[in-house]
Formats: sequence, C-alpha cells, structure tokens
Amino acid sequence: MRQIKIGNTNFSASAIAFGIMRMNKLSVDEAVKALETAHDTGINFIDSSDIYGHGKSEEIFGEALEKSSLSRDDFYIQSKTGIFEDESQNFKTTRYDFSKEHIIKSVDGILSRMKIDYLDSLLLHRPDALMDPAEIAAAFDELQKDGKVRHFGVSNFNPMQVELLQAGLSQKLLINQLQLSVMHTGPIDFNIHTNMTDARSIDHDRGVLDYSRLHNMTVQAWSPFQYGQIEGNFIGNPMFPEVNDVLQKLADKKGVSKNAIAAAWILRHPAIGQVIIGTMTPEHIVDSAKGAGVSLTAQEWYDIYLAAGNDLP
Ligand SMILES: NC(=O)c1ccc[n+]([C@@H]2O[C@H](COP(=O)([O-])OP(=O)(O)OC[C@H]3O[C@@H](n4cnc5c(N)ncnc54)[C@H](OP(=O)(O)O)[C@@H]3O)[C@@H](O)[C@H]2O)c1
Repeated sequence: MRQIKIGNTNFSASAIAFGIMRMNKLSVDEAVKALETAHDTGINFIDSSDIYGHGKSEEIFGEALEKSSLSRDDFYIQSKTGIFEDESQNFKTTRYDFSKEHIIKSVDGILSRMKIDYLDSLLLHRPDALMDPAEIAAAFDELQKDGKVRHFGVSNFNPMQVELLQAGLSQKLLINQLQLSVMHTGPIDFNIHTNMTDARSIDHDRGVLDYSRLHNMTVQAWSPFQYGQIEGNFIGNPMFPEVNDVLQKLADKKGVSKNAIAAAWILRHPAIGQVIIGTMTPEHIVDSAKGAGVSLTAQEWYDIYLAAGNDLP
C-alpha cells in the first residue's frame, strides 16, 4: 500500500484509510474480520468520530481490536469531536460545541470506548460558528500535555476558518477532511470553471484544495463512493449509467474493480492525500484498497470527470 506523509510531519500512513462510521451495524466478530481484512491490504489508518452510531461504532471497534490478531500499534487512529447530539431529542444535532469542556470530555469518551490510551490525531468535525480559538487552544494543549492526542486537524473547514483557528494554536493543523468523490466534485469544479458565470464557477469552499496544498495540509476525502450528501452508493447504481460505464472500462483495462478506479480518481488530484473508505464488506475493502496502486492518465481522469455529468468550458 502506498504511504503518504501526513501534513509536514515525518510520519506516513496508507493512502487508503478505513472509516468506521458504519461499524455500529456489525457484530464484534464481523468487525474483527473487517479490521483484519483492512490491515491485510496494507491499510494502517482508522478514521472515527465520537458521534458514529452515537458512540457504538467506537465501542465495537474497541472490542474488535482487542479480540483480533492486531494491536493498537498496527494503526494510526484518528477521531473527531465538536458535533453535539442531544440524547433527549433522539440524538438530533442541536449545536456545534468547541468548548474546552466538551472537547476534553469527548476525547475521554473516545479513548474509553476504543480501549486505547491516545489518539494519533483529533479533528474538529464541522465548523462551530461560535468558535473561540483561545479556548480550543487550551483544550488542545491540555490533551497533548496529558498524552491523549498527538496531532490535530479539522474537517469541513474553509481556508479562512483554518487561518482563524491556526492563529490561536501552538500546534500546526495537519489535516482537513472533506467530502470528495467522482460524484461530489464541488471543490474541484470552480477551479475548472474560473472566470465563467455558470453554477460550477461558484466557489463554495473558498479554494480549500489549493490552500491545503500551499499550507501542507493533508486532505482526506470522505464518502468516496457516495453521491449527494451520503444519499447512496453510485458504484453499480443504475441511476448513474454513464459514469459506471467509464469506471468499468477502466477497471477492465487495469484489472481492478470500479471501487479501485473511483478511489484512484480521487488520489490522482494533487491536493488529496488520503481516501477514507467506509465499506464494511471484506470484498469491497480489498477492491477499494487496490485504488492506491492504480495510476490514471490525465485523459482518464478527465474522462471520468466528464462521465460524472460535468463539463469543461
Ligand atoms: N468528516 C465528515 O464529515 C465525514 C462524513 C461522513 C463520513 N466520514 C468518514 O468517511 C468514511 C467513509 O464514509 P462512507 O461510509 O459514507 O463512504 P463510502 O465508502 O463512500 O460508502 C460506503 C457505503 O458504500 C457501499 N459500497 C461501497 N462499495 C460498494 C459496491 N461496490 N457496491 C455496493 N455498495 C458499495 C458500502 O456498502 P457495503 O458495506 O455493503 O460495501 C457502504 O454502504 C466514514 O466511515 C467516516 O470515517 C466523514
């Protein structure tokens, strides 16, 4: 498995990472199988969040890791905090919470559920309109001093939000996790449609991919096989015949699956470091992981972009 450098640090991790958002649906034995399969493919990076399955995904992960043939040190483990779910309202998200108290309590919960002593990285899950960089800095400093978190990053942040937060921190923000896939190309479209007046020329993300390259932040692409906002899987989905046709042709040409081509398409973009897959099916994990070893020509990359319903000015 190809390794990439995280941010400007010396540690490297697999270009395909394993997200455990959907692990809450598995039995512990099924989770052991999923984790061992992922590890066998060369995946050494786990992505989580305190809200996945309202904590259940991390519980299953912790039990599965213990029961498996693997150990804590086989993985780089990341989780996220900052989304507040109100249990009394059926876990509805009622606010974002970047208070020191919430961040520290959330990390303690994550470590206890995952049965580990520290996180390799912690991300702020979604921007909080009320964020106070000084308060976040106090939380990060304490977590690092206590050995509970090694590195920090963000998710779904635009560059100005990164700048604002970074100005208050002593740690460099290493990671920004963003939704990006063949069927979710927003952060790429406006770069292609610059100086046009059509809908794709609108930059909803404030140049986040170029910013991340310039500032050595690792972009992690979430939901690589989903369309819309996690509405469903587009691989093999009859709603998307054209893109599936091109993915299949390239899959046949390169002797891999459509999952591998869709993952390779994301990794071909120079701003993107990792793809976080979320399948829990061993066969799909193996297929997707092969994407890190597939290289696409520029023409193949654009062929997929166009087949996904995009145009070039
Ligand atoms: N930062 C954020 O805001 C954010 C938001 C969402 C997710 N994430 C992270 O991203 C990770 C991945 O998200 P995701 O699970 O939505 O990603 P995904 O890998 O795009 O989607 C996984 C889903 O696609 C299905 N699938 C994959 N390949 C398939 C195939 N060939 N045929 C049929 N179905 C297929 C899987 O079903 P099977 O299990 O049956 O294969 C599963 O239901 C999460 O675990 C989480 O770590 C982050």
